[in-house]
Amino acid sequence: MSKSIAGFSKLSKSKKIDWIVDTYFANAESAKGILKQYWNSDEKLQQLHDEFIENTITNYYLPLGVAPNFLINDKLYTIPMAIEESSVVAAASKAGKFWLDRGGFITNVISTTKIGQVHFVFKGDFEKLGQFFDIVKPKLIQETKSITANMEKRGGGILNIELIDKTEDINGYYQLHASFETLDAMGANFINSCLEQFAKTFKNEALNFDLFSEEEKQIDIIMSILSNYVPDCLVRAEVSCHVDELSENSSVSGRVLAEKFVRAVNIAEIEPYRAVTHNKGIMNGIDAVVLATGNDFRAVEAGVHAYAARKGKYSSLTHAKIEDDTFKFWIEIPLALGTVGGLTSLHPLVKLALELLHKPSARELMQIIAVAGLAQNFGAIRSLTTTGIQQGHMKMHLMNILNQFEATNVEKQTLVEYFKNNTVTHSAVVEAIQKLRAKN
Ligand code: MEV
Repeated sequence: MSKSIAGFSKLSKSKKIDWIVDTYFANAESAKGILKQYWNSDEKLQQLHDEFIENTITNYYLPLGVAPNFLINDKLYTIPMAIEESSVVAAASKAGKFWLDRGGFITNVISTTKIGQVHFVFKGDFEKLGQFFDIVKPKLIQETKSITANMEKRGGGILNIELIDKTEDINGYYQLHASFETLDAMGANFINSCLEQFAKTFKNEALNFDLFSEEEKQIDIIMSILSNYVPDCLVRAEVSCHVDELSENSSVSGRVLAEKFVRAVNIAEIEPYRAVTHNKGIMNGIDAVVLATGNDFRAVEAGVHAYAARKGKYSSLTHAKIEDDTFKFWIEIPLALGTVGGLTSLHPLVKLALELLHKPSARELMQIIAVAGLAQNFGAIRSLTTTGIQQGHMKMHLMNILNQFEATNVEKQTLVEYFKNNTVTHSAVVEAIQKLRAKN
């Protein structure tokens, strides 16, 4: 039977672990051993990780892989990817190399505006609220000066604040809808601090606005928070080549491949069941780089999927066409990212990943990550419309199955060789291991 505990966060790390293993595990010593196995022997490094969150008991590892040979706007990149799914890095690397030989990826940042809102309830005359807003707006900006000074020095800051009437949806509901330029910072803290200050100023100033009745003076602030929907923080990445160049062997023509590819993308554009999986494949590439570079993949995920549904129906994030014998494939995607602040200056592997990427600005990182998404989608559609996805997937999955059976390095080598010419299924791998072991 589980039990509740008071004051858990105040216990030392070792006492927390004692409580967990004693409460939940049949073999407490073994559970403790596994948790400790993942501690870093460098105490300072471990402490750094312990302090990222509350109640840390150990570290959770994901592989950090790299996909080399990405030519983006004529500059070569090796892209770091933190991900557990077996075939993702292999597919990215293959797509990177494929397009390296065909001119690479062309990218551009379309916009970098981020949004935050103060949601409030006002019971009264909208015209008076509008007048109040016009008068108080400069003060809203003025009273955030201590928060915005540094950002403004670098060329960013608050772009605008608007008053929005949402009373058609909810009685008495209005917003201060603010836009921001946060440069190389993801900007969540900056935006939220500004918004909370707007809310304070707005509420306080209302108390002194003579045109308001006593009821109107009581503005009820519901919440102040940035939006992870960033349709105006948009990046585009594209590849193109002559249709003939799409073919890597003579058995199927480039045009046939291109037409099938475009059709597959068209299906994801109109069919939500397919679009979700199609976009999931894109996010395999995007999340892996977002994570490796210390960015907030939940924010990116939420914003990207909202964007995919912006026209009222969930649809593909990528598009493809054939124009005058040229195959064109592109993505347009909202990405709110940072290359300064947060984990980027704390986590040693994040710092390393950013250095590997030539220490990019947030704008450059947006472009690199859009490319990772496009490349991943290219690899997936290419496999799906030719060999099928399972061939590549199961080849990579082979190693997972071998590890489940604690195969030795020699066994792995033998079986990887064997499965070059045999279909990988779970039972086929199990049978092959058993046969091999019976022989030795
Ligand atoms: C698997 O993680 C991703 C794919 O399903 C994406 C797709 O179907 O396009 C292969």
